[in-house]
Amino acid sequence: MSYEYIYQPAKQQAEANTLLLLHGTGGTEHDLLEIAQFIDPNANVLSLRGNEPERHMNRFFKRHGEGNLDIENLKYHAKDLYNFIEALAWEKGFNPANVVPIGYSNGANIAGGILYLYDNPFKGAILLHPMVPFRDEEMPNLSHTPVFIGAGTNDPICAPSESEELKTSLQSAGSPVTLHWEDYGHSLSMSELQAAKGWYATAV
Ligand code: MLT
Repeated sequence: MSYEYIYQPAKQQAEANTLLLLHGTGGTEHDLLEIAQFIDPNANVLSLRGNEPERHMNRFFKRHGEGNLDIENLKYHAKDLYNFIEALAWEKGFNPANVVPIGYSNGANIAGGILYLYDNPFKGAILLHPMVPFRDEEMPNLSHTPVFIGAGTNDPICAPSESEELKTSLQSAGSPVTLHWEDYGHSLSMSELQAAKGWYATAV
C-alpha cells in the first residue's frame, strides 16, 4: 500500500539521518513536523499519514478497541511500511540505514512492530507512549538500534508495567534502551521532548 507523505530533504543530504514521523490516532503527516525540527534540524524528514483509517481518523493499523491492537493487521502494516521506506529511500536518495522513527502512540506502535520483526531496522528509534506491539514472535537482533521510550507513570492507555515490559524485551534483543518517565498521562510534554533530543544527540 502507498502513503500520503511529506518529504523534506536536508541541505546536506549525503549522510544525514532521516526522521520518519508517525502520528497518533486521528493525526496527520503535519503533526510531528515541528518536533522533527526541534530534535534535528539537519535531518531529512519523511512524515507519513496512516493508511488504515478508522471512521474519520487516520491510523497505521486496525484495533479492536482503545489499547486493544489487531496484531495480525499490525504485522501486515509493519512489513508493508518497512518495504515502503526501503523503496522510497532509493527514489529520494536517502540512506535507509540512517532512518530514525519518531512515533507517537499509534505511530509508536507501528514503529515498535517493525522493531519486533527485523534485525536492526533503524539507526535508532524514539517511541513516545508506545505499547508492547505483540508477544508471539522471537525477538530479532537489535544490538545496533538504540531506543528511547517516553512513558507516563499515569498513562491510561499504556500502563507503567507495559512500558517496563517493552524496555525489557527490547533489551533482551540487545538494544540499548532509555526509558524516560513523565506524569502527563498519554500526552506529549516538552520535558519528554527535551529528553528525547538529548538522547538523540548522543545515541544516534
Ligand atoms: C493503538 O491503537 O495504537 C493504541 O491504542 C494507541 C492509540 O489509540 O493510538
